Amino acid sequence: MNLLGPTVVVLAVVLAGASSLRAETGAEGWLRYAPIVGGAVSRRGTIPDAVISLRNSDVLNSAKGELIRGIASTLGKRLRAEQNVSAENAVVLGTLEDVRRHFREIESSRPLGPDGFWLRTVRNGGKKHWLIIGGNDRGVLYGTFAFLSRIARDRSVDDLDDLETPSAPIRWASQWDNLDGSIERGYGGRSIFFDNDAVRGDLTRAGQYARLLASVGINACAINNVNADPRILIADFLPQLARVADAFRPWGVKLALSVDLGSPVAVGGLKTFDPLDSAAAEWWKETVHEVYKRIPDFAGFVVKADSEGRSGPSQYGRTAADAANVIARALKPHGGILMYRAFVYNHHLDWHDMKADRAKAAYDYFHPLDGKFDDNVVLQIKYGPIDFQVREPASPLFGAMQHTNEAIELQVTQEYTGQQRHLCFLAPMWKQILDFDMHVNGATPTKEIVEGKTWRRPLGGFNAVVNVGLDETWLGHPLAMANLYAYGRLAWNPDQSSEEISAEWTRLTFGNNSQVVATISGMLLSSWHIYESYTGPLGAGTLTDIVGSHYQPNPDSAEHNGWGQWIRADSQGVGMDRTITTGTGYIGQYSPEVQKKYETLASCPDELLLFMHHVPYTYVLHSGKTVIQHIYDSHYDGGAEAAGLVRQWEWIRGKIDDQRYEEVLNKLKYQAGEAIVWRDTVANWFFQKSGIPDAKGRVGRMS
Ligand code: GCU
Repeated sequence: MNLLGPTVVVLAVVLAGASSLRAETGAEGWLRYAPIVGGAVSRRGTIPDAVISLRNSDVLNSAKGELIRGIASTLGKRLRAEQNVSAENAVVLGTLEDVRRHFREIESSRPLGPDGFWLRTVRNGGKKHWLIIGGNDRGVLYGTFAFLSRIARDRSVDDLDDLETPSAPIRWASQWDNLDGSIERGYGGRSIFFDNDAVRGDLTRAGQYARLLASVGINACAINNVNADPRILIADFLPQLARVADAFRPWGVKLALSVDLGSPVAVGGLKTFDPLDSAAAEWWKETVHEVYKRIPDFAGFVVKADSEGRSGPSQYGRTAADAANVIARALKPHGGILMYRAFVYNHHLDWHDMKADRAKAAYDYFHPLDGKFDDNVVLQIKYGPIDFQVREPASPLFGAMQHTNEAIELQVTQEYTGQQRHLCFLAPMWKQILDFDMHVNGATPTKEIVEGKTWRRPLGGFNAVVNVGLDETWLGHPLAMANLYAYGRLAWNPDQSSEEISAEWTRLTFGNNSQVVATISGMLLSSWHIYESYTGPLGAGTLTDIVGSHYQPNPDSAEHNGWGQWIRADSQGVGMDRTITTGTGYIGQYSPEVQKKYETLASCPDELLLFMHHVPYTYVLHSGKTVIQHIYDSHYDGGAEAAGLVRQWEWIRGKIDDQRYEEVLNKLKYQAGEAIVWRDTVANWFFQKSGIPDAKGRVGRMS
């Protein structure tokens, strides 16, 4: 029965058009469940009156609550919650085991792994059931979100037989939150977890965040900075952390923590944290045991060691494997995972040494350790060999660790890609990396390596630095949430296209109006290229201030220091020579097929030219332009395209709510201005270096 009477329903539908334009803050993200106009009337008729949850658990209760909330909000219909299967139409929630007890026609032969789900409609004696079947309780929750997403995107749910299994078991988010409430590289306000050296009293936002993460299949979240404060493991902190785990648990999101390798000394009072010291090993065991006593479903730790001044095993002449394994062995009996970051490099490199190359560091360090890590250790590898730049090649390390579990590290927080003040939708960039064929075992795209498929690894997957904050929009720019959504969708299924993902997100976030969907998706899909064009094209790196904010243009900052983000620009040419023949030898870290592609100028793609080669400014690209003219043109084109984003946004005035419309408009106008600053700074810098005028006469005129 529809609890709202027919008049109310009609009114609701009439009002739906208007209410979809009500002011919105963005706080709901893509889970707004806006009323569906038009298709709704017929659709409502096909949705049953009841939801039956075949069992109770925190996660199943969330699924049930979400279903009721979502249907009420999109279709104006309140579902009745029932316990038992009866002879009435209903949505049924349960695991495969639960459902098979009641529905004999559900075959067990379909592979429904952990976290997977199956949406299936069945008809019996004139009655119809919408089965939301999970491989486990979390799978039921994910299936529920998928079901609601269909409705919110105005897709039919009349006949369903959709089975989905996630690509990999590790689908984590990481927050770089500090205990004082600040966030390293966070651009969406202060921490939702910490304040004033303690866990916040009110964790409402933490629960809401977990709901958003769950809706795209993220199953764990490390809540503190990888530059970890050792105090996170102090006994007093544990009950506070348990409260965060409690807030996450109903959404199937497990708590994880970043830990400092020096913790046995820093908080354990030991004299050494040498990973091969038995007292240090014992300390990890006891500490981990205490964590699991409080948080039985604890996911594990993330470790950044021997990196950017962090303590590490090198202090004792030990390896990363020694360090990872000692903690992994403490986690193992409890089912925990140790994510060891491969972001290990020397940040005091000699700029004068033409063979020195930061890009080589991770491979050089970790490749010899392949096979030495325990099976609950996962090597967490940034997508490129440098550091989240606007364009990098896929890290060669992905192809070099056949006997080691791997995860790819992505960055939702736009540290080097505009810090949420610029629109930069990263799915197309991530796709390029995930689809990149490493050619190590026949066709071996990076995604299949991290999924664990290529070498049949027991574990593998994805971790992204997200850094949401207290800002109502979570990330500080309403459109930046597309990156969080896309991250979850790609971790779930890296075969999805950027186009599908951007259209899905736009429909969920701004509604199903076709002009809105086409405009916003189009803007998202072009934004990475635009950002790259007015910052650092041809693989030169972002050309931002690398020793400071990582935001403003500052090509000079790349050079003459030990950080190794060099571009080696002089009066004659630009680019890092990373060839095997004359350069740093970085290209030799790839398989022979990939080496062939990058080693010669003839086959190296323009977009990575300056990452792989040092060339004269007059070198002619595949496109037919010289390098210097390309730099000028791309900056002018990018500047113009950034202005174009403002005009595109203006097309949808009145078709979305004013509040988000105005907020995004202001941000896009600001971005268009900043793009000019970038354009002029970078173009003039290269003009001064090279002395070669712009063929179109723009550079140096400061127009
Ligand atoms: C970048 C970032 C740091 C961060 C580091 C990491 O260099 O700027 O803030 O700590 O990456 O990934 O560990």
